[in-house]
Parts: sequence; structure tokens; C-alpha cells
Amino acid sequence: MEIKHSNANPLNAKTGCLILPVGNRKKLNGTTAEADDASDKYLSHILKQNDLAACAGATVMLHNVPGISANRVLLVSTGSDKQITAQQFNRVTQSTATALSTPGIKDCVSCLNDVEVDEKDLTWQAGSFAQALENNTYHFDLHKSTKPDRVSAFDGKATLFVSDKKHNKVVETGITRGTAIAHGMSFARDLGNTAANVCTPTYLGKEAKKLEKTFASIKTKLLSEAQMQKLGMGALLSVSAGSAEPAQLICMEYKGAAASKKPVVLVGKGVTFDTGGISIKPSAGMDEMKFDMCGAASVFGVMQSVAEMELNINLIGVVAAAENMPGSKATKPGDIVTSMSGKTIEVLNTDAEGRLVLCDALTYISKYKPDVVIDIATLTGAVIVALGNHTTGLMSNDDNLADDLYKAGIDSQDKCWRLPLWDEYEKQLASNFADLANIGGRSAGTITAGCFLQSFARAYKWAHLDIAGVAWKQGAAKGSTGRPVPLLVQYLLNRCQ
Ligand code: BES
Ligand code: MN
Ligand code: ZN
Repeated sequence: MEIKHSNANPLNAKTGCLILPVGNRKKLNGTTAEADDASDKYLSHILKQNDLAACAGATVMLHNVPGISANRVLLVSTGSDKQITAQQFNRVTQSTATALSTPGIKDCVSCLNDVEVDEKDLTWQAGSFAQALENNTYHFDLHKSTKPDRVSAFDGKATLFVSDKKHNKVVETGITRGTAIAHGMSFARDLGNTAANVCTPTYLGKEAKKLEKTFASIKTKLLSEAQMQKLGMGALLSVSAGSAEPAQLICMEYKGAAASKKPVVLVGKGVTFDTGGISIKPSAGMDEMKFDMCGAASVFGVMQSVAEMELNINLIGVVAAAENMPGSKATKPGDIVTSMSGKTIEVLNTDAEGRLVLCDALTYISKYKPDVVIDIATLTGAVIVALGNHTTGLMSNDDNLADDLYKAGIDSQDKCWRLPLWDEYEKQLASNFADLANIGGRSAGTITAGCFLQSFARAYKWAHLDIAGVAWKQGAAKGSTGRPVPLLVQYLLNRCQ
């Protein structure tokens, strides 16, 4: 894919497809109106026949339109006569990408920047376009012995028409961002989709080393089980105890600003397979627990995006990688482990393992003197009960950080919603034998998990994203989504502004 911008008149463009937005069909405007005039009202004629549905993202492909140099014209409904919402515009760019997916189209010119979007600028619009085109090309064939027969996605040259030269710069920025976010999402999706017998903690460590090789701005450090033992990470190691696969603590350090600038630290749950351990899960659907490292995958994706954009920040990505298996050495319900913080934990349920790997990582990363810390984890089934498969659960010990993440969710349309971490909930974690238990009873499971993590994150501003409902899709479309890479990258971009 190559995406650029141009100020040349799109009506004269010799291209495979000219993309024209349609809002008010009775009174066309912008380039669409000019094309209608140039074609002697051919477009109006098509619209009068009602071939283009009114909802945002409806498309109709026309061939040999008179007066237009392009081989084809794609009309795309914006969904409204007036300004449209960000959500509608994303639908427009996504269905444009789909409509372009025919082998005959090798290049296109888009006039979608003519559309006005509520509270969004041309940078955002160009980003939406680039991200949609790039995301549309995603496929995952790693484990297929022969290439599946599928509609070939548009992967050619796309040009975004910019009517006024003075907007060139902001459009270019948008293209760069959208492309980088999509690349980060693809990386995260690849890691999530890879089978757990391949994608082990060791494999994730190798992927981190690859990032270091690709980007001079990234340094990778790996901590082995022996090194973690020395640091006293008894909670993290209690999760990998039953597995033949050794745990890894993976630290990726991106330097994009002066060393004096405090870093943002991302901590990802990297449970490469979660059987539940001795508190074993039911077998139906257990294959989906290969996605239990999607928090880690999003950290990899963000590192990739940020390095590609060369963002002016310091960013640390830490992944706590382990496999949760039953076995003769596995942790048993009632076992008590000592975390790196010194706090003892009664493991009442070995299936509440995500918080155990994360708590030691949260203690470890205080050495980076972080400005803020965000952990990302497929932590609880309960978050799906609370927020469904649409929204990430957000918890935080800092109101400003929570507000910033909420806003980044709205900006990127990769949304999150805050839940409280009040003392009443924290009390549910009381243990008769240790400093705290790793489960808090049946009610408010997402919040008590958040409270558990909070008790290891008191030294800094911290937020927790529970992505169990959004990180992958089930059923026929089973696969990793790449969320919340857009949310996190948007948060980092907003910090740079
Ligand atoms: N990885 C799971 C959470 C999960 C479950 C994500 C289902 C997506 C779908 C996590 O390790 C887990 O097992 N959590 C338990 C916690 C419980 C034992 C307190 C859960 O949610 O059931
Ligand atoms: Mn579990
Ligand atoms: Zn888990």
C-alpha cells in the first residue's frame, strides 16, 4: 500500500477509481458536484434512481462515467445531509476500503476529505482513511499450508485529494498516523492469532528482540525465571510453575525524548495460554484462552506504532509472559506466595492468574520512575457481563489519567468506560492467612481484580484496562481485533499535543 496526498484536480486523474462522497443527494457539493456537472448530471441521474442507499457507508460502483478521467467512480453515502459523526465517517472509510477490494483496481483517488465531521479535523479524517485501507488488508495465514481463496483487498496506490495546499501538512500527518496505528494493530493481531504452542513466552521474547533490531530507538531486555527468582517475583513465577514453558519478563524501552523526560510505562498481561491451572477451566471454548496474551500483544503493537511515528516521548513496554498450566509443580488453591513487593498472596483460585503476573511487573517497573503507568489485560470474564464486547473496562487511581484515557477512547472510537475502585470493594480481598487473597468473591469481579492491582500500584499514577471483552471476536469471525492499540496510541498522541 502507498497512501499520499495531491492537490491536482481529481476529475482529470487517470486512476482506477475516483471516490466521491454523497451527503445531500438533492444538492451535491464539493468535488461530487463538479463531477456531476462534468458528467452532464449523470451522477444525479443515478441518485434519482435510488441506487445508493442513504445510510453511512452505502456504496455504488459506476463504470465509464462521462466527462471523468477515472475508470470507475465510487459513490459513498455519508449518512446525513449535514455534518456527520466520527462513527459515521469511520463507516464511510471502512466501506470504501471494502468496495475497492476487487483485483481490477490498482489505484484510487479519494475526495472523502470534502466531508465535514463533528469535532474532527483533516488530520483525523486522513487517519481514518489510511487506517481503514490498511486494516482492510489484514489476513492471517501463518498456520495455513495453502493460501486460502479470498477477495483480494485493495493494496495499491491511494491518493487523498486536498483542495487547499495549506492543508497538505496536516493531511500528511494523518496518513502517517493512520498507517502506523494500523501496522501496530496488525502486529498485535498476528501475535494474538498465533497458536499457543507457537506463541509461548519465549516466542514473545524473540518478537521483542526483533523490534529492537528493526528500530534503533528501541532497546529490549529479557528477564529469565532465574533473574525473576532473584528479584523475588514469587507471584509471577507461581503462574508458570506448572508449565514446561519458562516465564519471561520482557522490557522494551523506546527513547524518543530527552532522558530527563519521565516515561509512560505500559504493562501487558502475556498469559500465552490460560487453562486456569489446577482451578481448571471448562473445555468448551478453552481454545480462546490463547488470546489471553492480547494485553501484551497491544503493548507490542503500540511500541511498533510509536517507533514508526518517531513520537517525541519516552515509552517503556513491559510484558509479563507466562503459561498457566496444571501439573505436579503447579500452584494449588490455598498456596501462599510472596510477591516482589513483599506482600503475601493467598492463591484461592489459580485461574485468577493475570493479576499475579501483573502485580510483580507493576512492582518492578517503579524503577523507571514513570510519569504514568497503564496496564492492559484480558483480566476478567466479568467485564463482559458489565460492558459487553464493545467497551474496555477502565480503572484508575488518578482522575486526570482516567479522563485522558476516556477522551482518547472517544477520539479513536476505541472506547473505554470507568469503574470505581472504592475501599468497599477492596475489602472483598481480605484473606485469613495472607496479606490478601487473589479473588474477591462472586460480585464485582472486574473491580476487585482492579483493586488487587491497585494495591501494587500506589507509588505512581496508574490505570488499568480490562480488555477481556474487546480483544478478540468469537464465532465465524474468530480472531484478534488489535484493540486497544488505537486507544493507547491516541492517548500518547494527545499527550504530545
Ligand atoms: N483470562 C481470564 C479472563 C477471561 C475469561 C477473559 C473469559 C475472557 C474470557 C482470567 O485469567 C480469568 O480466568 N479470570 C477469572 C477470575 C476469577 C477466577 C476470579 C474469571 O474471570 O472467571
Ligand atoms: Mn484465568
Ligand atoms: Zn487469564
